[in-house]
Amino acid sequence: MSVVLEDIVKRFGNTVAVDHISLAVEPGEFVVLLGPSGCGKSTLLRIVAGLEAPESGAVRVDGRDVTALEPRDRDLAMVFQNYALYPHMSVAGNIGYPLRVRKRPQAEIDAEVLKVAAKLGLAELLNRRPKELSGGQRQRVALARAIIRRPKAFLMDEPLSNLDARLRVETRFELKHLQHELGAATLYVTHDQAEAMTLAHRIAVMRDGRVLQFDTPFNIYNRPANLFVAGFLGSPSMNFIGLPGNGTTLGVRPEDVEISPVPFEKGQPATVYAAEEMGNETFIRISLPAGERLTARVAADVRPDFDAPVWYRFRAGRTHLFDTKTTEAIQ
Ligand SMILES: Nc1ncnc2c1ncn2[C@@H]1O[C@H](COP(=O)(O)OP(=O)(O)OP(=O)(O)O)[C@@H](O)[C@H]1O
Ligand SMILES: [Mg+2]
Repeated sequence: MSVVLEDIVKRFGNTVAVDHISLAVEPGEFVVLLGPSGCGKSTLLRIVAGLEAPESGAVRVDGRDVTALEPRDRDLAMVFQNYALYPHMSVAGNIGYPLRVRKRPQAEIDAEVLKVAAKLGLAELLNRRPKELSGGQRQRVALARAIIRRPKAFLMDEPLSNLDARLRVETRFELKHLQHELGAATLYVTHDQAEAMTLAHRIAVMRDGRVLQFDTPFNIYNRPANLFVAGFLGSPSMNFIGLPGNGTTLGVRPEDVEISPVPFEKGQPATVYAAEEMGNETFIRISLPAGERLTARVAADVRPDFDAPVWYRFRAGRTHLFDTKTTEAIQ
């Protein structure tokens, strides 16, 4: 099942929340909307869900124009950040709810609940109430409730944001496997780049209501289309060096800056400004003679002193060039 957005526009007063966005989620594809706060991710998702009407443009599910349909008639399952479970119902009651609403026979509901609960590691928890669950367990109940309907597609808005770092990574793996197993088209909103990189088949990087690049995680990282995308993905961020002579900006990722305590071929001199030891690697901030600073990402056993002289060079073929004025990449 595909989900296609055609030239969607949505304004709130003077704010253009969604500014002519078109994109397609292919059958079985996991597409992530990634961008800073306020860039229009949730608004776009709510338009697909039918919770918000676009000013212009169309939403198609499997080729059918659903723009004028009520949310319940679109056959899309939603999992939102604030996954409201029914507090008075057990886990089993919550998971089976969408099937009860559809008046399916109780025996069939029980069997489906067991199947989905097993898939999400909830089989032991079916008789508990939501308040007796951890945040991650509640999150999985919300997912199970969405899955049990076998919707044509999933819409998820920051579904992991209430989880602590460890649980988030764990649930990320579960989500990824689940999507592989169910093969449903998924449109997933996050502002977390690690979530986007790990889950997506394709990422739409958004800013100010627009999609700046829509491509695979590999291409978004290795062939960023403009300065914003280049700087938004990657941690630590890409280094940028203005080249005033020709109006371009050179970009180089920290892992592509090589450092040596002694002069080496093509190496340029610098000094150590500060270093951060991460345990498995070290981030070194160096000062260039003209005053610019660059970050290098190096092996954990490199432990330079403050102000020590170092030499740096950029890994061949790993630099990016951008037009400083238009911010677009120069190929
Ligand atoms: N109901 C509303 N009324 C007025 N303005 C709104 C409304 N909903 C969203 N906006 C505005 O539209 C823009 C996009 O908001 P949206 O919630 O889609 O952003 P987002 O990308 O989901 O951000 P976040 O990462 O913070 O959730 C923002 O400028 C926001 O203030
Ligand atoms: Mg949002």
